[in-house]
Amino acid sequence: MRHSQYILAFFFTLILTTQARHHHHTKHKHSSHSNNNDNNTNNQSYPPSPSPSPSSGISMPPVAAPGGYDNEAPSPSPSDDDGSEIFNVRTFGAIGDGIADDTKSFKMAWDSACQSDSAINIVLVPRGFSFMVQSTIFTGPCQGGLVLKVDGTLMPPDGPESWPNNTSRRQWLVFYRINNMSLQGSGVIDGRGQNWWDLPCKPHKGPNGTTLPGPCDSPVALRFFMSSNLSVQGLRIKNSPQFHFRFDGCKSVRVDSIFITSPALSPNTDGIHIENTNDVRIYNSVISNGDDCVSIGTGCYDVDIKNITCGPSHGIRYFYDHLFMYYSQKFHSLFLLH
Ligand SMILES: *[C@@H]1O[C@H](CO)[C@@H](O)[C@H](O)[C@H]1NC(C)=O
Ligand SMILES: *[C@@H]1O[C@H](CO)[C@@H](O)[C@H](O)[C@H]1NC(C)=O
Ligand SMILES: *[C@@H]1O[C@H](CO)[C@@H](O)[C@H](O)[C@H]1NC(C)=O
Ligand SMILES: *[C@@H]1O[C@H](CO)[C@@H](O)[C@H](O)[C@H]1NC(C)=O
Ligand SMILES: *[C@@H]1O[C@H](CO)[C@@H](O)[C@H](O)[C@H]1NC(C)=O
Ligand SMILES: *[C@@H]1O[C@H](CO)[C@@H](O)[C@H](O)[C@H]1NC(C)=O
Ligand SMILES: *[C@@H]1O[C@H](CO)[C@@H](O)[C@H](O)[C@H]1NC(C)=O
Ligand SMILES: *[C@@H]1O[C@H](CO)[C@@H](O)[C@H](O)[C@H]1NC(C)=O
Repeated sequence: MRHSQYILAFFFTLILTTQARHHHHTKHKHSSHSNNNDNNTNNQSYPPSPSPSPSSGISMPPVAAPGGYDNEAPSPSPSDDDGSEIFNVRTFGAIGDGIADDTKSFKMAWDSACQSDSAINIVLVPRGFSFMVQSTIFTGPCQGGLVLKVDGTLMPPDGPESWPNNTSRRQWLVFYRINNMSLQGSGVIDGRGQNWWDLPCKPHKGPNGTTLPGPCDSPVALRFFMSSNLSVQGLRIKNSPQFHFRFDGCKSVRVDSIFITSPALSPNTDGIHIENTNDVRIYNSVISNGDDCVSIGTGCYDVDIKNITCGPSHGIRYFYDHLFMYYSQKFHSLFLLH
């Protein structure tokens, strides 16, 4: 690969403590960076647009008992000794052939798990299947701990043309108001970003290398919003249409041993973006993408990043007002742009 020689390994610990001031900021480094920052994320008003709302696919009330009988079909696996219960999306009707729309089954599995009072409720995305799920907001709070275990493949509709008009184009999977959740598994989350990156409104993707105007929203693959006690572990996430992860308004985030990959030239595919989020640990991960490895927006403090391999992406960006800083162990210094 052309860019492989640029891979830099950063081994560092970065503790940022800033006051949660709320200034407007823009990413200045390259204009190709479309402005994803909702107008109101940097002032006191929540929620940032697009806020979760029923019209954009909010998780529905418990529907585990379609016939009106509590706790009947589809039923989760019996509780294990350790107090965990498994909610296999296939039990809730998901097909997993990569074509069928499995959104409703995922919502049902989620809602059942979320309402269950077992200590640990595992929504299982089983190995050997490929599930297509539309833009969805999974809401909490849940009764017990929730684990989304992705052992198979999870993907959105393939590009803007097949993206339903009535779902958000700025986010794909959203976890909203969840406390105590773990996203893990040996599977793959594939954002199928190619057709989004090729939109003529993306930098130099228009006719003859031009950039056409127009709304150019592309979905963040995984967004955690106003949630706490989150852990993301062991997953592979690739080809997000836009940021791979975005944490906003969150507290206590642990990211460990994840692999993010998207092409070097994919626009705006930051690995992990955080804003207004505190107590963040990002460890032992590999991020290979087209934009920032980790970008840290305003209102973040207590951020610890260790043993992250970034490349060919731009490294760690901490943007605060108009100041950008890159930290890397290799140089052990701080580069200030502007
Ligand atoms: C957001 O900002 C853009 C440009 O700064 C402006 O055109 C638009 O009206 C703003 N939207 C809201 C909801 O304030
Ligand atoms: C926050 O932003 C919105 C939209 O841009 C604006 O209408 C509102 O006055 C701002 N609030 C504060 C406190 O700055
Ligand atoms: C979008 O429209 C489809 C078809 O009309 C419908 O099945 C689906 O529930 C709608 N989704 C949302 C989030 O409104
Ligand atoms: C959080 O979830 C874990 C399992 O994921 C569980 O062991 C723990 O009891 C939960 N804690 C709370 C406060 O719900
Ligand atoms: C969305 O709307 C546009 C124009 O209204 C239409 O051409 C397109 O087929 C629609 N997409 C879907 C997935 O329904
Ligand atoms: C976070 O998890 C820890 C340990 O599982 C638990 O003690 C704490 O209450 C949780 N916090 C919240 C806000 O759920
Ligand atoms: C692209 O450039 C070629 C050669 O300069 C020109 O003939 C053609 O009209 C241009 N196409 C567009 C869509 O601008
Ligand atoms: C650093 O992270 C890699 C995975 O990216 C892992 O294999 C390695 O063991 C980690 N190193 C340390 C010292 O934890």
